[in-house]
Amino acid sequence: MFRLQPPLPDDYSTADADELVRRVTTARARLGKRLVILGHHYQREEVIHFADMRGDSFGLSRFAADQHEAEFVVFCGVHFMAESADILTGPHQQVILPDLNAGCSMADMADLDGVEQIWEELAEVTDIEAVVPITYMNSAASLKAFVGRNRGAVCTSANARSVLTWALEHGNKVLFFPDQHLGRNTGFQLGYGAADMGVVDPRLRLGGLQDAEVKEATLLLWKGHCSVHQRFSTEHVARFRSEHPAGIVIVHPECSREVVEIADQVGSTDYIIAAAAAAAPGSTIAVGTEIHVVDRLAREHPDRSVVSLDPLVCPCSTMFRIDLAHLAWVLDGLVLGEVRNRIVVDEATATDARVALERMLAIA
Ligand code: 13P
Ligand code: SF4
Repeated sequence: MFRLQPPLPDDYSTADADELVRRVTTARARLGKRLVILGHHYQREEVIHFADMRGDSFGLSRFAADQHEAEFVVFCGVHFMAESADILTGPHQQVILPDLNAGCSMADMADLDGVEQIWEELAEVTDIEAVVPITYMNSAASLKAFVGRNRGAVCTSANARSVLTWALEHGNKVLFFPDQHLGRNTGFQLGYGAADMGVVDPRLRLGGLQDAEVKEATLLLWKGHCSVHQRFSTEHVARFRSEHPAGIVIVHPECSREVVEIADQVGSTDYIIAAAAAAAPGSTIAVGTEIHVVDRLAREHPDRSVVSLDPLVCPCSTMFRIDLAHLAWVLDGLVLGEVRNRIVVDEATATDARVALERMLAIA
């Protein structure tokens, strides 16, 4: 998905950190209650420091839906999160993404044309009225609208289990997109096996499945993944366990099934944060998720050793795009009465997507 962030003016791109902190602090004070800054846990320290609310994608969507006061919601996260916030906030509120290029490569692995194509092909071989589409929060608003129109719901990694349970009470099959890993891991948690699942490759007719495979599967999993979380491997777990036999492995459900199967705990970012906090002082914890979360946990719990499961893990490069310079630029714009980088979901899409998001909020 192509989005274009023009380069920042020189006095932002060349300003030093102290100057940018001063600008953000000043603009924030001037905007007062007109502004709320949301920060996803994957954000850099310099940015999360200014967040009025930090959270995972579920927590932040709930917060966005519940807060009605601020006129401007600056979302330090990625594009799909800002879109969801725009859908869930009121018409008097404007959502801003400090860098328009902060997308999500996983979300970009499914688009409306591709999903509609597969949906039509599925309808040729199975009772489509009994198929419930579920989209992960990490998806474009147009896909949330698609599931809203088709009796489905959104889920996040924090509530995928409840949402899938709900879906299978309302149909006998789920089409889950775009993250095959979250779908598969949640399916296993619910007691389904590999034979109950089929992988839908959007480049192939009927996802590359035979008619009989579609009919027999309970979970049809879109072939998408997160490039950050798919890096964690069983070799990483084995090496950590050999070095720290009493250590604890906690991973995000976007990791592969093989990794999740041998981890001690699995859960959303908020879950991982709570699990690290609950671990006994003195414990060694390997975390399989984005590096800013791991580093922050290590700093917040100096009495335990928190390390990345993959010693070479890289940050989520799109979350990383949000920096102090972009934050200062959008906030200064607001002070000047100029709304920069507003994220707007068109009303027709927002109406259907809101149905899917509100279903999720009601289920979870
Ligand atoms: P959470 O749902 O845990 O916030 O994760 C979002 C995400 O993008 C994970 O890669
Ligand atoms: Fe997307 Fe992965 Fe980054 Fe999460 S970590 S925002 S799924 S690319």
